[in-house]
Amino acid sequence: MFQKNLFATFMLLAITLVATACDGDNPETKETVAHAPVDKTDNQQKKTPEAETDHIRLPEEHLQKTDQGQAVKTLQKALNKVGYSIERNGTYDDITTWAITDFQLQQQALIATGVYNESTRKALQKILDEHQAIKAGAVLDQPDNKPPDTVDNPHDILALVNKENRLPSDFVPRNLTVPDVRFPFEDFLPKKQMRKVAAKAMEDMFQAANSAGLELFAQSGYRSYERQDAIFASNVRKNGEEAANKFSARPGESEHQTGLTMDVTSPDVNYRLIKEFGQTDEGKWIKQHAAEYGFIIRYPEGKDAITEYQYEPWHLRYVGKKAATTIMEQGITLEEYLGEA
Ligand code: DAL
Ligand code: ZN
Repeated sequence: MFQKNLFATFMLLAITLVATACDGDNPETKETVAHAPVDKTDNQQKKTPEAETDHIRLPEEHLQKTDQGQAVKTLQKALNKVGYSIERNGTYDDITTWAITDFQLQQQALIATGVYNESTRKALQKILDEHQAIKAGAVLDQPDNKPPDTVDNPHDILALVNKENRLPSDFVPRNLTVPDVRFPFEDFLPKKQMRKVAAKAMEDMFQAANSAGLELFAQSGYRSYERQDAIFASNVRKNGEEAANKFSARPGESEHQTGLTMDVTSPDVNYRLIKEFGQTDEGKWIKQHAAEYGFIIRYPEGKDAITEYQYEPWHLRYVGKKAATTIMEQGITLEEYLGEA
């Protein structure tokens, strides 16, 4: 019994000694243990921004002006990373459109549209992966820097051009080209041209109209500021200014200067641009199918209070399929679509 107690006492003493010895190591041990998580946390904090950069998963879907949601927020975050100090508000607003357009203008392989599409995603991903920075605003001024009533971003395929929103007099679209479509005249004239993105869509539309047995003709596309000035002056001489401005735009106020517009016609109206075109087979087909190719009838019947121009069933404006489908299905104007009516 005594021996047992002695043994127990000895063991207790031994355990206490070992524990004390361990305590003796405590300062170091504690420090190591105590600092380990802190160091880990520090490391994590240091790594987080880089990890974010590396792991931004860019949205796969097309995004464009007026879109909202998490995908837009992610895109805005990516734009922040490459150098655009824009708000991450989840709305594809004018500033986001500006940043995308400015980015596109700085990448040779991209066509500037203001729309975030697959080729833009790939180019942006490359910049992110290579930790490169973009000089924000190097090609296109930020919207805030422009005077009111001026179109901030004429490269944007959803740019609103009207009597309240004027194009700069020196704006000439990039990538003007002659679409491979039927014209009622042979020779090259600048008005045969459109921006590449719209020209391609126009070719697809003409092919579909041909297949439907129709004879569409393209009459008038791109016009420079100076050309519009001459046309408007001529119309004023013939009709007076007020009457002229119901069908003819002042220079800077014409969509023809964007390179996204084409007036189309048909033999049934003798290739003229008159409202009867809307009643021809070609005119009816246009109303039904133009949106499938990204075009809208920009000055619809009964909407002159909003557009400030009379009905023009021949004046087609390229806005891309997404916006065109909504606009034509809902029977609204570009002003209404953009919330600017
Ligand atoms: N006919 C349209 C309004 C223009 O002149 O641009
Ligand atoms: Zn026109």
